[in-house]
Amino acid sequence: MSIEHDVVLVVDFGAQYAQLIARRVREAHVYSEIVPRSTPVAEMLARRPRGIILSGGPASVYVEGAPSIDPALYEADVPVLGICYGAQLIAQQLGGDVQETGAGEYGRTQMTRVNDHPSALLKGVPDHQIVWMSHGNAIVSPPPGFVVTASTPGAPVAALECRDRGVFGVQFHPEVAHTERGQAMLKAFLYDVCECRPTWTNSSIIEQAVAEIRAQVGDERVICGLSGGVDSAVAAALVHKAVADQLTCVFVDTGLLRLDEAEQVEETFRRQFNVDLVHVKAADRFLGALDDVIDPEQKRKIIGETFIRVFEEAARDLADADGEHAGVDPRFLVQGTLYPDIVESGGGDNANIKSHHNVGGLPDDMDFELVEPLRHLFKDEVRAVGEELGLPEDIVWRQPFPGPGLAVRIIGTITPERLEILRQADSVVVDEIRRAGLYREIWQSFAVLPAVRTVGVMGDGRTYEYPIVIRAVTSDDAMTADWARLPADVLERMASRIINEVPGVNRVAYDITSKPPGTIEWE
Ligand code: XMP
Repeated sequence: MSIEHDVVLVVDFGAQYAQLIARRVREAHVYSEIVPRSTPVAEMLARRPRGIILSGGPASVYVEGAPSIDPALYEADVPVLGICYGAQLIAQQLGGDVQETGAGEYGRTQMTRVNDHPSALLKGVPDHQIVWMSHGNAIVSPPPGFVVTASTPGAPVAALECRDRGVFGVQFHPEVAHTERGQAMLKAFLYDVCECRPTWTNSSIIEQAVAEIRAQVGDERVICGLSGGVDSAVAAALVHKAVADQLTCVFVDTGLLRLDEAEQVEETFRRQFNVDLVHVKAADRFLGALDDVIDPEQKRKIIGETFIRVFEEAARDLADADGEHAGVDPRFLVQGTLYPDIVESGGGDNANIKSHHNVGGLPDDMDFELVEPLRHLFKDEVRAVGEELGLPEDIVWRQPFPGPGLAVRIIGTITPERLEILRQADSVVVDEIRRAGLYREIWQSFAVLPAVRTVGVMGDGRTYEYPIVIRAVTSDDAMTADWARLPADVLERMASRIINEVPGVNRVAYDITSKPPGTIEWE
């Protein structure tokens, strides 16, 4: 890395917890990385961390085979903070007592400070405050040399510390927003105990990425596939900032995009950023290949394969062409891989549940070296960097969109007419969600076109047309989701606008299925 950031390591005892902690540390402008708990302590220390945080996890410390850590860690002269499971592990390993008390605590819990001890961690925290708990066992007595600094009804030792050894523990989750002043506690650990410098900022992230890209790419050519989504857009903008004219972006219009999406990519990249952009208009090819295809997996397969072929041809044409892009023979390919995609998790039992989808991705055997400027970043950092680079809000905050596009939202055959119905209806849904100020808090909101028609009456006549199904879900990671409780007036506006503005639709339904048992998409 070109900038020497202080590093705080988060030891992973449960992937979800570890990632959230690492994000909160970075929000405090301190660089943090997640390490699997199987990492030898010597290896962790070789990274010269300013502090080490032991994450929460789903296990109980006293069961056979419970995940543990080499206690040499506590002798290393690096401050350690244990959270939830991590705190119990510290207590157990250093001679305290952890027991199943039968009084678990889940959710908001009142914490009370104990002792007049000037706690480093709870500096400025009032005597009573709400914390977020999730534990079945509790530390019942602290290890020798530790002071108990807070308790809750079900956790006599809700916070403990041994300032001399630089070891701290909290039973609650400071990384969760429901813990009042949780972030202040993390900052106290980072700044006061570990003495970290807050250097991890958007501008330093950009500066570092730009330096790394330049070092990797030299004066070679780079190609980047744009999808219209935030990751590829931010990756492209970073590479462009680093090596401007050496970058060519390829945008494949599959014909399965949302209304105005292709224009927006043109507008942003060609006109605003002055990027060398190849816009491949391949709708006919995709629709031809999808003719009469009904099976959802078949659709995905066809779209994935067609995409790869079109992209490869575009890349080859660059090398051969004698026109605008003449002589471009890219050696590097940009990919929008994010940190959560590469982070090695726990030790097998809590392996990251990967999305099963990779449509729109490119095969590994393409003859390029990869440039992955987002591989250190979480999604929220990618968005912040995108904003800082001047990408439009519409792109930076765009809800996730599946690689196969509208094809997996049209049940049954995909025809230009049915695509047009869906595209218009989808645009109304998104428009009204935005107008209601709900776009960012909703994970995904879109329209689906089923393969049935229903009877209706409009004016004096009977109609026999398609229904549109509105789908809007809240979620954190798409693995589970709940249907969004949209206000009735928003639903009503969507319904009446869709019926009035989109020919071919005479009925609107709202999908109130959570995931599981439903999926987010209909196919
Ligand atoms: P499901 O429908 O499985 O979707 O609940 C979970 C998340 O994945 C997205 N999705 C896809 N993304 N290619 C993609 O790139 C696909 O084939 C695909 N199918 C679903 C979906 O939009 C949701 O965010």
